[in-house]
Amino acid sequence: MTRRVCVLGHPIRHSLSPALHNRWIAARGLDARYDAIDPGDADGFRAFVEGRLRTEFVGANVTLPFKTLALALADTASDRARAIGAANLLTVTADGNLRADNTDGPGFRAALTDALGDRPLGRVRIVGAGGAAPAIIWACQKLEASRIEIANRTAEKAIVLASRFDIDAISFEQIADDLEAVDVLVNTTALGLPGSPPFPLDPSTMRPGSLVCDIVPSAHPTPLLLAARASNLTVLDGLPMLVHQAIPSFTAWFGGSPPDAEAAIAFLRGAS
Ligand code: ATR
Repeated sequence: MTRRVCVLGHPIRHSLSPALHNRWIAARGLDARYDAIDPGDADGFRAFVEGRLRTEFVGANVTLPFKTLALALADTASDRARAIGAANLLTVTADGNLRADNTDGPGFRAALTDALGDRPLGRVRIVGAGGAAPAIIWACQKLEASRIEIANRTAEKAIVLASRFDIDAISFEQIADDLEAVDVLVNTTALGLPGSPPFPLDPSTMRPGSLVCDIVPSAHPTPLLLAARASNLTVLDGLPMLVHQAIPSFTAWFGGSPPDAEAAIAFLRGAS
């Protein structure tokens, strides 16, 4: 019988995950299929997870805005999913239980490690305290950042996350201050994307070789990444993170050795 997996989100039609996973499924010769499914709202998500997911699927990825609810609905959860407070991976176990995991955190950690090489992470400044931020903070803590700062337009959200992870909240007005002392800048907001205001920071005063990251999973560089590249900074977009969160998802459902990350990133650069 064809094993089914899917990604659940709203909206979901632009997701690159089906192309990525179906390519791996074909390469391994599996009788399986990965679909993008939009359950509409939280009630639709809950109904799908409690019903069809458990009976018709071996698992799912979960994306915005359902990652917190996915963790709450699961029967068991990994330590890292609980620490991050969100699940992007659900697996239906042999005994019919639903297990939650978070591979966004490890995905960002792997992407950062590849981008940095042997360099230590150093001082990190994260802009945005929305749904993506906890996994980013988790990864930076695992990589032993010397200092992690978070800023958000709505300051309260940054303060809550800073207290939860024991990092430093700074005001949104301070995001361009002391940039020469920041080793890694991470934009987790939609600022700079088409339809959103520009990202309000010029990275040109960062030290050469510092890392600028925009976690949007697209091959089209954002204005922030273009500016960073023009200033000889190292840049990281969201495609490596996407691939590195997908690999442990694939392994959780189908077992076996992980697919080749570099080839997958190159494939998505061509497809997106
Ligand atoms: P969530 O994940 O909570 O659903 P999100 O849409 O992923 O929310 O998060 C969007 C992030 O982009 C938030 O940090 C948001 O800031 P607020 O918490 O103040 O809303 C940020 N953001 C969106 N539009 C912004 C803008 N025009 N200026 C500054 N930050 C913005």
